[in-house]
Parts: sequence; structure tokens; C-alpha cells
Amino acid sequence: MPEAQLTGLEALKREAAVRAVALVESGMRVGLGTGSTAKYAIEELGRRLAAGELVGIVGVATSEASDVLARQVGIPVEPLDPRPLDIAIDGADEIDPDLNLIKGLGGALLREKLTEVQARRFIVIADHTKIVSRIGEKSLLPIEIARFGFLSTIERLRALCPGGRLRQPGAQPYVTDNGNYIFDAKLPDSGDVLTLERTLKGTLGVIETGLFLGMAERAFVASLDGVQEHVRRA
Ligand code: A5P
Repeated sequence: MPEAQLTGLEALKREAAVRAVALVESGMRVGLGTGSTAKYAIEELGRRLAAGELVGIVGVATSEASDVLARQVGIPVEPLDPRPLDIAIDGADEIDPDLNLIKGLGGALLREKLTEVQARRFIVIADHTKIVSRIGEKSLLPIEIARFGFLSTIERLRALCPGGRLRQPGAQPYVTDNGNYIFDAKLPDSGDVLTLERTLKGTLGVIETGLFLGMAERAFVASLDGVQEHVRRA
């Protein structure tokens, strides 16, 4: 959508995305995020390539949808391989003061984590509604689980995090790009998220969680006052 037609939160999301894409330099391998904010980053990267501001960019997409969009806007896309990425740019569902994140409401958490953990610089882009003082304050935590035996896995997860629900937008459960289901867990009000992450990852049937802890280098967060840059404390 042309910039002039964007209003409210959409305009803010785009502003944050443009600030992050300004960090991309020619020749970089770039992790391409997923979701409504990451979409603006992919479009901006495509614009900079088409304008000749950048050359030799390779994108690594974190979802089928981002792969399609990247190709549409002229970004060469390659699969993830063991080489490090120079930078990855992606949205988030929650951002705490230490730049710990909840991600995955868009369903792409597994490919996002696989990609972003390999990035020398992982940059988060968001509007101000994503800022929280505590992880789990506003958002449920997406957890990707195996389809086989999913009801048993959900029972194990509910023993750890009471409440929560299988993601099911219609008659059938939501299926990720990897062929799995997602359980959206309600996090406890207190407790250490690193311990929780370890416990969840050790739960049979869990493939990956949407907790992105200690991964983000900085976040560009847009509000009506402009774009604020948050840098993770060492
Ligand atoms: C996709 O799986 C997610 O991790 C998104 O990055 C996250 O949900 C933020 O999405 P929006 O930018 O659409 O809010």
C-alpha cells in the first residue's frame, strides 16, 4: 500500500521497518521476518534494491508467505544454510525491557527462531503496543507442537501453564508451514522465563516456543512521538 494511504498503527509499523532496513548494506545476507510489520521491511528492502541503493542482497525467509512476498518485490531468496546471516529483521508480539520477546502469533516461530539465532544482528520492529514490562503480560505464548499425540502434549503443557488453547481459527486446527499445530499458552504472572523456556523445551511433543530470550540486539519501536531505538543491555 502506498505510504500516503497508511494510517494509525500501520504507518507506525512502516516507520519502524524503514529505520531497521536502513541498517542493511550491499552484499548482506538478510533474515526476512514474518507478519504485518515484517512485511513493510521486506517491501522497503525490495524498494531499496530496485532503486539501486543496495546490490548483492540475499534474503532468507522465515515463512512461505515472506518467501512469496520477497520474490514479488525482487529480493533473491535462498534457503537457510549454516552460514551466519549479517542481519535479521522481524516483528514481535511482546518486547520486555531486556528485549526478550514473545513471537509466533503469526505462526512462523520455528523458522523465525532457526533463522534469527544465526543472525549477527537481530533487529526487532514494532509499534508501541508491543512494549510490556513483563513477558506474558498481554500476549499468549505460541508453542509449536507435534500433531501426533497433540492432546497428550497439551495436557502436559496445561500442567505447566494452566489455561491456554490449541490454535483453531475454524473447524480445523491451524497448521504451521512445518505441518505442526500451535498451542497458545497463558504464562504465569511470575517466574523466571529462562527456566520456563527450558521446561517447555523439555516437554515431550514440544517442537519450539515463541520465547526469544537474549536474541535481539535492538528494537525500533514506533509511536506517535516518533521511532524509539531500544538497545539490549550488555
Ligand atoms: C510471526 O510468527 C510472528 O512472530 C510475528 O513476527 C509477530 O507475530 C508480530 O506480528 P505483527 O508484526 O503482525 O504484529
